[in-house]
Amino acid sequence: MKTTLFDPLQLGKITLDNRIAMAPMTRSRAVGDDVITPLAVEYYGQRASAGLIITEGSPISKVGRGYSFTPGIYTKEQIEGWKAVTDEVHRKGGKIFIQLWHVGRRSHSAIAGEQPMAPSAIKEADKVWGPLGNGEYGMIETDVPKAMTLEDIKNTQQDFIQAAKNAIEAGFDGVELHGAHGYLLDSFLRENANQRTDEYGGSAENRMRMVLETVEGVVNAIGADKTAIRISPFVAEGSAEHDPKVIETSLELIKKLDQFGLAYLHFSENISNYQEVKDDFRTQVRAMYHHPIMVAGKLTKEIAEDLLAKDYVDLVAFGQPFITNPDLVERFKNNWELTPVDYANHATFYGGGAEGYTDYKTYQQ
Ligand SMILES: Cc1cc2nc3c(=O)[nH]c(=O)nc-3n(C[C@H](O)[C@H](O)[C@H](O)COP(=O)(O)O)c2cc1C
Repeated sequence: MKTTLFDPLQLGKITLDNRIAMAPMTRSRAVGDDVITPLAVEYYGQRASAGLIITEGSPISKVGRGYSFTPGIYTKEQIEGWKAVTDEVHRKGGKIFIQLWHVGRRSHSAIAGEQPMAPSAIKEADKVWGPLGNGEYGMIETDVPKAMTLEDIKNTQQDFIQAAKNAIEAGFDGVELHGAHGYLLDSFLRENANQRTDEYGGSAENRMRMVLETVEGVVNAIGADKTAIRISPFVAEGSAEHDPKVIETSLELIKKLDQFGLAYLHFSENISNYQEVKDDFRTQVRAMYHHPIMVAGKLTKEIAEDLLAKDYVDLVAFGQPFITNPDLVERFKNNWELTPVDYANHATFYGGGAEGYTDYKTYQQ
């Protein structure tokens, strides 16, 4: 029997109604001291028919922030804000993980509140969205980051662990560590960002240490069944060049991650500066990794069905289609037309209020 989009899936102790996940998407609408906007209660609630919602990246600390208005999970007020979201999603029968985020070097001191930190003091090539200094917001150059001391590393791991505990307190079904897109955890894996000469740099084993220790810490704090990770071996985000060793390192990492029995392993593909993922890689991963696998990146219903039918993955995640189709699952089920992604109105992706956020209609509306 081939797996379909609408088959349930056991993920640790929770059962997902279907295999369709909502991919994590930053929407930059936080209020006050980086508290999730009350509008998010409606936004995530509208999308609760997804098998699993993964929230927008949620900074685990002040210095972990790389964009203005991203809702955190490190203060009491932020936890309270998220509680309203998880309550609503659960009330509607959905399941929700929060994405735990530390941007590392992809930031600026005007956002991070201090010099951003990274494995090594190497500036990132891209720009980030933050204060322009004239009261307005726009794209600003990243700062040269501070190379993390061993104490910074331990403190950051503690921040991930505390954020995971906060997430459970806020009612989340689990957490997804953001180990993709050139942010802190990913940057430890890559030689072009990590040139450390201590036990966190150099060999593949050393470059994986930060990720594996962080995963282990979070697993010990909240349980493997509530812990997941997103990685993006084929994406060089914020970097012109692909690290020649990152695929090999990622395969070793995946082999090591297998021992934890995480809720899922999530691959982000097909965005930014990416390389195509070959079937070969998927079969290799399937053979070495024995727990649920999720893939995201410009999927269509047909591509997603094919990935499931070939048994390359257990879950498929959709990002932008979920912005414009709150009832994406029902539309797929009934073969209803999708509301296309509004690229012309891209401005509402990040920032603003209800427009482009909670005002997309279901097919039946
Ligand atoms: C507006 C927007 C915000 C995003 N924010 C995040 C994020 O916070 N964390 C993350 O891992 N990926 C983020 N992504 C990437 C998505 O999770 C997803 O991988 C990507 O959009 C490709 O999937 P899609 O083609 O189905 O949209 C974002 C994408 C978009 C469009």
